[in-house]
Amino acid sequence: MTAAPASSALSFRDFRPDEAFARHLDETDPLSGFRDRFELPRDERGRPVTYLVGNSLGPMPRGARELVMRELDAWGGMASEARFRGERPWYRYHELVREPLARLVGAHPAEVVAMNGLTVNLHLMLASFWRPQGRRTRILMEAGAFPSDTYAIESHVRVRGMDPAVEVIKVSPRPGQACFEVADFTQAIEREGDRLALVLVGGLNYFTGQVLDMQAITAAAHRAGAMCGFDLAHAVGNVPMQLHDWQCDFACWCSYKYLNAGSGSVAGCFVHQRHAEDLERPRFAGWWGNDPQERLRMLDTFVPASGADGWQLTNPPILSTAPLKASLDLFDQATLPALRRRSLALTGYLEFMLRHAVPSGCSVITPADTGGRGAQLSIRIPGNARAVAKALHDRGFWCDFREPDVVRASPAPLFNRFAEVHAFAAALGGILNG
Ligand SMILES: Cc1ncc(COP(=O)(O)O)c(C=O)c1O
Repeated sequence: MTAAPASSALSFRDFRPDEAFARHLDETDPLSGFRDRFELPRDERGRPVTYLVGNSLGPMPRGARELVMRELDAWGGMASEARFRGERPWYRYHELVREPLARLVGAHPAEVVAMNGLTVNLHLMLASFWRPQGRRTRILMEAGAFPSDTYAIESHVRVRGMDPAVEVIKVSPRPGQACFEVADFTQAIEREGDRLALVLVGGLNYFTGQVLDMQAITAAAHRAGAMCGFDLAHAVGNVPMQLHDWQCDFACWCSYKYLNAGSGSVAGCFVHQRHAEDLERPRFAGWWGNDPQERLRMLDTFVPASGADGWQLTNPPILSTAPLKASLDLFDQATLPALRRRSLALTGYLEFMLRHAVPSGCSVITPADTGGRGAQLSIRIPGNARAVAKALHDRGFWCDFREPDVVRASPAPLFNRFAEVHAFAAALGGILNG
C-alpha cells in the first residue's frame, strides 16, 4: 500500500476504509505505545473489549496500582509520620498534581487545586461567585445540562428562599437542532443584562459532545457585569483550554473521565488569579483552606491561603490522588497538543468510517467542525438505540446509550487504536444494515 501520512497530520480526504490503512496508522503513530501503559477491561468471559467509554470512566493507568501501593506502604510503615516524612509527604500531596492540571486547563499553577468531588466544588464555587444583589440575581445555564449541575444551581437558589423558575435562565438549542449556537448564549446574556449575576455552563456538552466557545461566553458575561464559570467534566484532558487567558472566573472538573484517575477520584478546581488572590471573597471555609504554614497553629480565625488553595475544606484524599498523579504523568509525557492531534485524527476517522460502513440508519449529532468537538461522537439511532448499544456490547464494543436515541462513542487518544475505530464502525454497520 502507499504510505499513509502520520496520523497527526491526517484530514478527512486522507482516510481510507480498508482495515490495512487503520493498522498502518497504529503501527506508525508514536503515541500508539501509550496504550500499553493501561490495564484495559475485559468482558465477563475474560475477552478483551473495544473500550469507547473513556468519556464516562477512563481505564486504569498501570502506574496507578504502583503509586497507590506506595502510599499504602507509607501508611503501613509510617502512619501519622507519612504526613511529613518520606518521598511524597501527605501534607502537601495534592500539590503533586497542581502543575500538570494547570497545564491541561491553561492556568497558572496557583489558580488550580485538586480537592473534593466535582459537584462539591460546584457548590463551593456557587457560594463564592453567585452573589445576588439588588436586581442582579439571575443565573444563566444551558438547557439539558448534566443533572447534578441543575440540582446544585437550583438548590443554591432555594437555600436563599428564591425561586429557580424566576432566577435560573436556560438557553436551549434551536428547534430541530441538537447543538447550541454560541450566539444564543451571548444574546441571552445581553438580554438579561443587569439582572444577570452568573453564567455557569458545561464547556463540553456531555450529551452531544459539543465544545462551547468558552472565551466568547466569558467575554459576554463580563460585558453584562456577571461572573462566568464552567463545568469541564468532559473537556479536561480532552480539548486544550486557556482558562487564564480567557478570563474565566472559575471552573470545576472531575478526573475519572479522560483523566483516567478512577471513579470518585479527587476533582479539580480553577479560580482565576484576580479572585484567587482576593482573600476577602466570601467562601465556605475549612481548616485546609488556611495558609499551610499557619494551619497547624489551630487558630480560631480563618485566613485563606492565597490561590485556589484557599477554597480547600479538608485534607487531601491520598489514595484517590495517587492514581491521578499516575495518569497525569502520562499526559505530561505525551503532551496535550500531541494527544489532541491524534484525537482529531481518531474521531475524524470514526466519522469517516461511520459514513462508509453505516450509510443509513444513524446520524452524528456532534458538530462536524473539529474545533467544536472533542473525542466523543454522539450517534443518533432512531428506532431502538438501546438495543443497538446492547448488540454492540454483546460483540465486545463498549460505548454507552443515552435516552432517548443516542449512542456515545469516544476513541480516546491515550489508549484507543485506529483499528478499533474501524472494527466499531463495521460492527455498527453490520447491526444496522445487516
Ligand atoms: C458534566 C458533568 N457534570 C457533573 C457530573 C457529576 O460529577 P460528580 O459525581 O463527580 O460530582 C458529571 C458526572 O458524570 C458530569 O458528566
